[in-house]
Order: sequence, then C-alpha cells, then structure tokens
Amino acid sequence: MGTTRDIAVIVGSLRKESLNRKMAKALIELAPPELKLEIVEIGALPLFNEDLEANVPEAWTSFRERVRRANGVIFVTPEYNRSVPGVLKNAIDVASRPHGKSAWDGKPAGVVSVSPGAIGGFGANHHLRQSLVFLNMPAMQQPEAYIGGAGKLFDDAGRLSNDSTREFMRKFLAAYAAWVEKIAAQGSVP
Ligand SMILES: Cc1cc2nc3c(=O)[nH]c(=O)nc-3n(C[C@H](O)[C@H](O)[C@H](O)COP(=O)(O)O)c2cc1C
Repeated sequence: MGTTRDIAVIVGSLRKESLNRKMAKALIELAPPELKLEIVEIGALPLFNEDLEANVPEAWTSFRERVRRANGVIFVTPEYNRSVPGVLKNAIDVASRPHGKSAWDGKPAGVVSVSPGAIGGFGANHHLRQSLVFLNMPAMQQPEAYIGGAGKLFDDAGRLSNDSTREFMRKFLAAYAAWVEKIAAQGSVP
C-alpha cells in the first residue's frame, strides 16, 4: 500500500457533451489519493486493420504504450444498441495487437456504464466484460456501476451534482483501489 496507481480511463463516447465523459471527469475528481486517473483519448485511432501492422500508425503506437504503462484501466461507456460503441471496440482491438503483445494483459479493470435510459447501459457493461475475459483483464465484479437516468445527474457546468451518485462513485473507486492492490499482490500489475 502507499503506492499511487496510474489508472487509464477510457471513455466510449466522442461526443463533446458526453454524459460518459462527464462521469469520467467526476471519477477523476472523486478518486482517492492512491489512484491517479487520466482520460486516455481514443477518438484519433485509425480503424483497426491488420494490414496496418506493417506500418503502424503513430496514434496506435502511442495509445498502446500509454495503456501498457497503466497499472489499471477504468472503462466508462455508453450503450449503443445493447453493446459498446464501435469507437470503444476499436480502441480495445488496437491495443490488443500485435498478437501476443496485448497492452491490456493482466490489468485490473473497472467498468462503468452511463445512460440516460433506465437500465444504465447494462447490455454494454456486460458485452464489454466478455472482451475483458479474453483480454485477461481481471474485472472488478462488485459494486456494479449501471448509471441510469444520467441526463439528470449533472449540472449546467457538467459536474456530477447528484449526491447519492457521488457517494456511490466514491465507494466504487475505493473498491476499485482495493481491487488494484489485490491484483498487484498476485504480481500481474506492471
Ligand atoms: C447509435 C446509438 C445507439 C444507442 N443505443 C442505446 C442503447 O442500446 N441503450 C441505451 O440505453 N441508450 C442507447 N442510446 C442512447 C445513448 O445512451 C445516449 O445517446 C447517451 O447520451 C450516449 O452517451 P454519451 O452521452 O456519453 O455520448 C443510443 C444512442 C446512439 C447514438
């Protein structure tokens, strides 16, 4: 304990007024001192095409290196058609290659899904978990974070203003910090 962990936050929406980005910013604000969260951008990553491995785009290289440096990853994602947005899946695919060199390998994951809808992006949250199994990313199971009705949780400045959600996210982050340490103790956190 006593170590500050570098946590990459991946936001599954590119929209300027994204509720998920607002939530990611709230997580940065609410994180305990042992976690340093940083949003790692995915919007400029060329679409995955294995042919490009012969001449890897710079944006892929820097994204892969940034993920590799991280001690853990928190995904904050919308639900699109009961799954994750293509931009998020693209980022996952990009950093999972080349084969045998996945940048995600072994990193403790947290999953937050945020939707204006009532079921809080449950479908996206669990579709994402399916990929995390294959990527060998131990994903924290509890507490689950399906944040519904999100259109009403932020104020005009984009700040998470709902007190009970703020409290819940604090608890989520405390549990995630403990999860990172637990996985680190098993020796798989870089
Ligand atoms: C292509 C598309 C598909 C969507 N599908 C779903 C869905 O399956 N479930 C859901 O709760 N919301 C769905 N929505 C609504 C999103 O939850 C809403 O646009 C949300 O604000 C997106 O997240 P963001 O604010 O972070 O961009 C969909 C939106 C789009 C554009």
